[in-house]
Amino acid sequence: MRADLALVGFGNVGRRFAILLDERRERLSREEGLEVRVIGIATRRHGTAYASDGLDAVAAVAAVESGQSLSNWDGRPAGAPPSDSFETIARLARSSAPMRVLVETTTLDIVAGQPAIDHVRQAMTAGCHVITANKGPVAFAYETLSSEANRAGVQFLFEGAVMDGVPVFSLLRETLPELEVRGFRGIVNSTTNHVLTELEEGAEFGPALACMQDAGIAEADPSLDIDGWDAAAKTAALANVLFDARITPHDVDRQGIGPELSATARACVATGRRLRLVASGTRGERPCVRPVELPAHDLLAGMRGMANALILTTDLLGDIAICQLEGNPTQTAYALLSDLVTIRRRLRAPLPEPPRRSPSPREH
Ligand SMILES: NC(=O)c1ccc[n+]([C@@H]2O[C@H](COP(=O)([O-])OP(=O)(O)OC[C@H]3O[C@@H](n4cnc5c(N)ncnc54)[C@H](OP(=O)(O)O)[C@@H]3O)[C@@H](O)[C@H]2O)c1
Repeated sequence: MRADLALVGFGNVGRRFAILLDERRERLSREEGLEVRVIGIATRRHGTAYASDGLDAVAAVAAVESGQSLSNWDGRPAGAPPSDSFETIARLARSSAPMRVLVETTTLDIVAGQPAIDHVRQAMTAGCHVITANKGPVAFAYETLSSEANRAGVQFLFEGAVMDGVPVFSLLRETLPELEVRGFRGIVNSTTNHVLTELEEGAEFGPALACMQDAGIAEADPSLDIDGWDAAAKTAALANVLFDARITPHDVDRQGIGPELSATARACVATGRRLRLVASGTRGERPCVRPVELPAHDLLAGMRGMANALILTTDLLGDIAICQLEGNPTQTAYALLSDLVTIRRRLRAPLPEPPRRSPSPREH
C-alpha cells in the first residue's frame, strides 16, 4: 500500500523520523507492505517543500542542517512550494494514495496547543490520518479530536507524546484491553530528571540544563521543561486518555524546578532519599506535577538522568510500571514509525475466508 506523508515540523524529531523512514524503507515494504513517500515538508522559519511524486527527505535533512531554506535549497523540486503548513496539508489531501498521513511534530504551544490542533483537524477533515509526537493536541483537545477522527474514519495516534517510543497508550489499547487505570505516578520529563540527578551530585543548574539543550532533548523553550509545563502537558494527556478527564495542562496543579533546589537535592542524597519531579493523577481528582522527596525504595527514586517511569494503578493487575532508561529523538521518531505501522495494520484488508475443504470420505 502506498502511503504519502506530509511532515509538518522538521526539527530534531521530524528530521530523525525522515532518516529512520529511509533506513527502514525496505523492511517496511517487505514486512508491512508499506511504500512510504514524503511528499510535503513544512517548517516555521526553514521554508516548505512539496513534490507530488515524492521528495528526497534525506537530502532535505542535510539542507536544513546546513542552514538552507527548504523553499530554495539546491535539491528543491520544480514548482512553487506551499505557502505554509496549512497549504502543505491541503496538498497532502489531494494525493491519490490510499493512505495519506500528516506527521505533526511542531513545537509544543502551552497556551492553547495551537496551531497543532488546527493542523490535526484540517488533515482529518480532509480524510488524512494523523500521527504526532506533539503533546498539544492530546493535552488540550483529546476528546474532540478523537471524536472527529471517528467521524472522519481516520486514525489519530500520538504514542510519542508521553515517554517517546516506549509504549504507553498502545500498550493499554492493544495489549491490556478491559483494564481500568485508576491512577498514575511517574517521572515523565527527561530534562528535569537529568538536571535533578546532576544537582544531587553537586553540579550547577545552568550547565546541566545546557547539556539537555545540546542533546535536542529539552524543549525549544527550556522554561517549558523547568517550569513543569511539559510534564503538565503529559499529565493532562494521560488524564484525558486514561480517565476521559477532558482537562488541559492549565488544570494541572503545577510546580517546576530551579537552582534553589540544589541544596535540597544534595540533602536528600545525604539522608538516603531522592528529589524527583513527579507527575501524578487519580481518576476524578485534580492531577499534579511537583518536586517530591522520595524514599530510596520507591521505584521512581531509582530513575536517574534521562530515565522516565510511569506506575499505573489498575483494577485487575494492581500496580504495573513502564520504564524508559534513556531518551533521545530516535526514540520519539520510533514512536511515529510505530504509529505509522499501526495505521497500516488497521487498514489491512481482512484475510479472505479460508477455502472450504471438501470432507474426506472418512469424515462422512
Ligand atoms: N525532542 C524530543 O526528544 C521530543 C520527545 C517527545 C516529544 N517531542 C515533541 O515533538 C515535537 C517536536 O520536537 P523537536 O525536538 O523536533 O522540536 P524542534 O526541534 O524545536 O522542531 C520543531 C519544528 O516545528 C516547526 N514549527 C514550529 N511551529 C510551526 C508552525 N507554526 N508551522 C510549521 N512548522 C512549525 C519548526 O520550524 P523551524 O525549524 O523553522 O522553527 C521545527 O521544524 C514537540 O512538540 C516536542 O514537544 C520531542
